[in-house]
Amino acid sequence: MKVQVLIADKFPDLYINQLKEMELDVIYSPKLGENDLPEAAKEVDILVVRSTNVTAATINASKNLNLIIRAGAGVNNINIPAANQKGIYVANCPGMNSIAVAELAIGLMISLDRRIPDNVIDFRNGKWNKGEYSKAEGLMGKTLGIIGVGNIGKEVAKRALAFGMNVYGKDISRIEGVMIKDFSEMDQLLPLCDIITIHLPATSQTKGLFNKEMFSFMKPNSMLINTARADIIDQDAMIEAIKTKNIRVALDVIKNEPENKAADISSPLQELKNVYLTHHIGASTEQAQNAVAAETIRIIKDYIQSGVIAHWVNRAKISDAHYQLVVKHFDKPGVLASIMSIIREKNVNIEEIENIIFEGGVVACCTIKLKTPLTTEMLKQMNENSNVLSVSHVAI
Ligand code: 3PG
Repeated sequence: MKVQVLIADKFPDLYINQLKEMELDVIYSPKLGENDLPEAAKEVDILVVRSTNVTAATINASKNLNLIIRAGAGVNNINIPAANQKGIYVANCPGMNSIAVAELAIGLMISLDRRIPDNVIDFRNGKWNKGEYSKAEGLMGKTLGIIGVGNIGKEVAKRALAFGMNVYGKDISRIEGVMIKDFSEMDQLLPLCDIITIHLPATSQTKGLFNKEMFSFMKPNSMLINTARADIIDQDAMIEAIKTKNIRVALDVIKNEPENKAADISSPLQELKNVYLTHHIGASTEQAQNAVAAETIRIIKDYIQSGVIAHWVNRAKISDAHYQLVVKHFDKPGVLASIMSIIREKNVNIEEIENIIFEGGVVACCTIKLKTPLTTEMLKQMNENSNVLSVSHVAI
């Protein structure tokens, strides 16, 4: 039976055809919403989504689902705890749309400085207002704080440095030979910044990070750009800062973003002249979408051909493994079984295991991660097997 792949969001034709050429049963249903997915994904092996939510209902209703690919960077739309309970792999495509998001962040920065959207609105309303719109300060020499210096933050930094800006980063601070000045404390960083741009993922640590206290550190009249996730900012605290400190804001993400591509929207931010908003289009350039699609295909190909999951995000970062056993052995039937039975006899739990073969196929090396230590007697027993070349056992 063919492996069934459901693509539940918009995906470029070229790459759908590439999947079809791989002899997969490809279902392309870009209009599916989160409530349609439990039924639509019931029988599929691989599910590909962009921003469509993959809920616990979808995961629990699925019979064959083994891999969910987020065709993008953020995985906050996938219920990972539910996937963990069923042993379903979740993978993403990090870095593939970073340049697109960085370009938008820079675009928003210039827009805020020059008030480009207001220029356009006035023109459309039949007004010429050169006097009002000639008050921009310019970006050169301004201090930019990048909150989150991962793939996207680094691309923003490169572009801002080319503009002659003074760039500070909140975490990793090196980009191709250039050192962005590193500040670990927000209370020291934010008061220095004329412009702040957020490039963090949505996690329990980042939720509500920009709260009342953070806004209190920001300079009056400074600018804030968020092309990451709406949840990172406490919207009420932001509105207060806009009103009391004249903070100017440009967002690509908004609280209660509509699920559909076209929908009515209502937000208290619509009342505020200091807020510009784009429609979560950071990653939506043709270049970025093609790069993400190509990476999605690569993940599927690797998975089908070798079982390896590239960019596997729900692999345990910290396991209960505290000891490592490495057994080099002749690649013959029964050798590993004998090692396992020694481990089983003493009721030691294996957390992870990998057996790899040396070229020529004579010798293999098995690495076993264990919860509790093995005894000298057990190691002696393993060594007594004439097909075992060496045994090493260390605490990790
Ligand atoms: C991402 O996490 O990659 C971006 O937010 C893009 O989301 P989208 O694929 O829904 O445009």
